Amino acid sequence: MSRSPFPRSRFLAALGTAALFGLAACGSGGSAASTSGDDLLRVGFSQLGAESGWRTANTESVKASLTEEAGFDLNFVDAQQKQENQIKALRDFVAQDVDVIAFSPVIETGWDEVLQEIKDAGIPVVLVDRTVETTVEDPYVTWIGADFEQEGTTAGEWVKENAPDAKVFELQGTLGSGAQVDREEGFNAVVGDQVIGKASGNFTRAEGKTAVEAALQAYPETDLIFSHNDDMGLGAIEAIEAAGKKPGEDIKIVTVDGVRDGLQALVDKKFNYVVECNPVFGDQLAELIEDVAAGEEVPKETIVVDQAFDQTITQADVDARPY
Ligand code: AHR
Repeated sequence: MSRSPFPRSRFLAALGTAALFGLAACGSGGSAASTSGDDLLRVGFSQLGAESGWRTANTESVKASLTEEAGFDLNFVDAQQKQENQIKALRDFVAQDVDVIAFSPVIETGWDEVLQEIKDAGIPVVLVDRTVETTVEDPYVTWIGADFEQEGTTAGEWVKENAPDAKVFELQGTLGSGAQVDREEGFNAVVGDQVIGKASGNFTRAEGKTAVEAALQAYPETDLIFSHNDDMGLGAIEAIEAAGKKPGEDIKIVTVDGVRDGLQALVDKKFNYVVECNPVFGDQLAELIEDVAAGEEVPKETIVVDQAFDQTITQADVDARPY
């Protein structure tokens, strides 16, 4: 079984070069520079959902870059966090014989059949954001996204340094997603011995709140929450306040993403540390899709660069945040 895009232990630097996909049989192809009618590059993009501020920003970035003026005919389909919806969208893209398929897989497994169908149709795949685990050989041409494992490691290092005795509840993202699996692995490699309980909030604010309400009953000694995204962390704030405790003080909160609401919580001292996951890579994606369609060599992986924020961030920084 091959897992894309890289073994969990691997880190940023290793950018390989992809073997070229057999593009000769892939519809119109060609450069996306032209904007007239039939010359548009036909792209099917299956977005996994709209579960978080991060996802909304990512969708906006993709749509802002894959425009008709830039030479794209984009068929964008939102799967509402359901794998069956994504598989249906991918099959529709094959039936439409699009030039390139791009998709952000909601979970890692379960793609073998549809990836084989896409491959048999000779349509190149650009994997976006999350990863897949599949038995299909060379299932995609290139992948662009963040180093989730490193994000978990960075969060763990902050806890180790700033709250070495904390009793940690881990608020996991969608179970089986690359973002959940890898963030958990990176975090637990550093401070796994401090984790006293975990549950999934499916990357949404509402489910994050529900999971933390239950956790405060099951693990009343919790004094730090590591949330796999900002939205669930914002739900955690609501649950903690409803329980009569102070988020950021009685219970520290460390999250991943860095959307404006998350950074505002940091300025308000309700979050303690935020590891960025940058969703604004539409331009890089557009360039990759153009190159793939034109049969040019592309890197097998493009890692989007992240930073991290602590409570020294200012209101001006938050106000300047584009998403
Ligand atoms: O895959 C990226 C993750 O998905 C983001 O961290 C999260 O907010 C989103 O739902």
